Amino acid sequence: MLNFRREFDLPEGRVVIQALTVPLIEQTSELLASSFVRAVSHLAPYAAYVRRNISAYLREHQALPPKALVLVAVLQPRAGSEGGDNGNGNGSSNGNGNGNGNGNGNGSDSGAGVDAVAAAGNGGGVGAVLSGSRPRVIGTAEVSFSPTTRSSQPLLNAPVRCAYLSNMAVSAVFRRKGVASRLLEAAEEVAGGVRGEQRMYLHLRFVDETAAKLYESAGFTIARQHPAILAFLGPLFGVQRMKLMVKPVAPAAAKAAAAAAAAAAKASASAAGDTN
Ligand SMILES: CC(C)(COP(=O)(O)OP(=O)(O)OC[C@H]1O[C@@H](n2cnc3c(N)ncnc32)[C@H](O)[C@@H]1OP(=O)(O)O)[C@@H](O)C(=O)NCCC(=O)NCCS
Repeated sequence: MLNFRREFDLPEGRVVIQALTVPLIEQTSELLASSFVRAVSHLAPYAAYVRRNISAYLREHQALPPKALVLVAVLQPRAGSEGGDNGNGNGSSNGNGNGNGNGNGNGSDSGAGVDAVAAAGNGGGVGAVLSGSRPRVIGTAEVSFSPTTRSSQPLLNAPVRCAYLSNMAVSAVFRRKGVASRLLEAAEEVAGGVRGEQRMYLHLRFVDETAAKLYESAGFTIARQHPAILAFLGPLFGVQRMKLMVKPVAPAAAKAAAAAAAAAAKASASAAGDTN
């Protein structure tokens, strides 16, 4: 599981999807913190605190496999791609980036990476993320296989035995390039192929409409949801209306068989074409 590795290309460079390693924790914390703070606006004054907590969480979860696996999408910039297309390309390495107005990012423990991703969250562009030629974390997702490693939701808990997806985030300037879709595919491969699970679940807030589009386009459907009344009463009690989504995940063998069948069908169609 720790050796899991998938690769794909973006115009900016090669992206490797792999297990989170200790040197990538700070960049990943920054990515998750900036996403969460943007999604939950009242957290903005506590952004530095949020990031420290996420960092501690990731340190713990980085060591959890096989109970859970934190995946990261790491961009290996192509030579000459740094400072690219944001018009200034330099908003990243001065050690004071405070993306989202969150007052974090003194840069002390993570170098240019924190500032780069924060700058990107603040509209700095791809060039801000690609400061220098260092690998950059541009996306992350976690897949867990034990109720002890995931959060619970009143009335909406996933089954004890399943794969459970959480903490999906993609760096703002790399969105709509298929990074989250690749992370989902990777999570499914780990769930079905490596762990032999048959279903993957996730919780989603009703307000997360973009994420809903992602999961629906990837084949997730609603398994259960909080009643509509919670849309009105929830805010009074600080409860978010949520849905539990589910998708069947194919075991590796079934996927390989489907791919082989598709390849055989293609070969026989082209052979038929040759003889006509
Ligand atoms: C949700 C999120 C992870 C999507 O990441 P992404 O890398 O941009 O997603 P992809 O490029 O793989 O998109 C795959 C599909 O999802 C849907 N989708 C993704 N973003 C969308 C958007 N902004 N509007 C409409 N559809 C969208 C589309 O169907 C898209 O396919 P298409 O681009 O061919 O139309 C990203 O927007 C993000 O990090 N948001 C903040 C954190 C968050 O909401 N996390 C989820 C919490 S549960």
